[in-house]
Amino acid sequence: MEPVTMPTERTTPFDPPEELRRLREQNPVTPLRYPDGHIGWLVTGHAAARTVLSDPAFSARLELKRLPVGPPADPDQVQPAPPGYFLAMDPPDHTRYRRLLGGRFTPRRMRALESGIEAIITDQLDEMEKLGAPADLVERFALPVPSRVMCELLGVPYEDRAHFQSISGALMGFDVAKMQEAYVGINEYLYGLVQRKRAETTDDLLGELVAQTDLDDVELTSIGFLLLIAGFETSANMLGIGTFALLTAPDQLAAVRADPDLMPDAVEELLRYLAIPQYGLTRTAVKDVEVEGQTIREGEVVTVSIPAANRDPKRYPDPDRLDVTRSATGHVTFGHGIHQCIGQALAMLEMRLGFTALFDRFPNLRLAVPAEEVEMRAASQIYGVHSLPVEW
Ligand code: HEM
Repeated sequence: MEPVTMPTERTTPFDPPEELRRLREQNPVTPLRYPDGHIGWLVTGHAAARTVLSDPAFSARLELKRLPVGPPADPDQVQPAPPGYFLAMDPPDHTRYRRLLGGRFTPRRMRALESGIEAIITDQLDEMEKLGAPADLVERFALPVPSRVMCELLGVPYEDRAHFQSISGALMGFDVAKMQEAYVGINEYLYGLVQRKRAETTDDLLGELVAQTDLDDVELTSIGFLLLIAGFETSANMLGIGTFALLTAPDQLAAVRADPDLMPDAVEELLRYLAIPQYGLTRTAVKDVEVEGQTIREGEVVTVSIPAANRDPKRYPDPDRLDVTRSATGHVTFGHGIHQCIGQALAMLEMRLGFTALFDRFPNLRLAVPAEEVEMRAASQIYGVHSLPVEW
């Protein structure tokens, strides 16, 4: 089989690149050429995706990874994950951190945050209403809500909020120099925050980790940083593009409005359908392994396409249709296996409360520009909208 390069060209805002469909139909495990010339694999089928993500023959270690798009990594920069950055570690290191954090992200713990999240949402909607239409939903709602939720979760004091939000915002930008500056800034800020929490115990996630675990300040800084990058941009983009998807599918929006009990299913379906980690998840084989008849050799890198797996007709009937009444569980937007998103209960809560309050507050919410003019985050790891002009 001739290796392909990662398909990235979309023809519609919500559908994955058409080429992914062809690959999934012909060969759900197909050779893929990486930007540095490495020949690895692209997985587009739902079953194969879950196999790769749950098989210990595949490693998540940072130093073994290659991304399927973008410039090739500089070999001098290839390093293991810093202590605490467990997203890019394998057991037993991953297990140790995940155990320390897992119990703090249960649906029950997240429900305890519910009233705080509701207050943040109300506050942002009040501000948006006061400033009047038209408004950019991303600037007024989709970005500030998860950013403030993250401040609350990590225990960023109120007086530091603006500073924290501006550096975390810059981190999600496109300007490489600014991003590097923001990376240093946020790590310095988090390190200082951890030290302050050592001096004075606080009742929040970082405060608890300081008081109740033997994690050191460097590990806690990396954990704070990981939670921030994993939990802010993702939720923000889901709120933005999720609103866009609902506004352009009036029948689906009407269905959730008519029956608010549908909201949890609608959130699950939006996650499946929009599949915002658009370039997928990468793993590296640490031994020879067979997946759906293909032998993957030790050292070969595998990219699991989340958009392709979530649209596999073998798993979801009529997969290209946004259908808020279907059961979309089993999608891989939060990953699968030991690295499956630790913050998923929080993310779903933010979306459930966010969409409900937004459409309650503005029953006539609509786009303020033609849908074709909404600018998509085409070249970002996390897909979404740059801005979403709305009126009501
Ligand atoms: C819609 C929102 C979100 C999406 C789509 C999302 C997606 C993902 C995915 C795909 C992974 C697995 C990565 C892999 O296997 O390589 C992951 C892991 C993770 N996510 Fe999320 N996430 C979201 C929200 C959040 C939130 C709100 C938090 C924290 C508050 C969070 C924290 C994490 C962490 C710490 C990991 C690493 C878990 C591990 O390696 O064991 N995420 N997320």
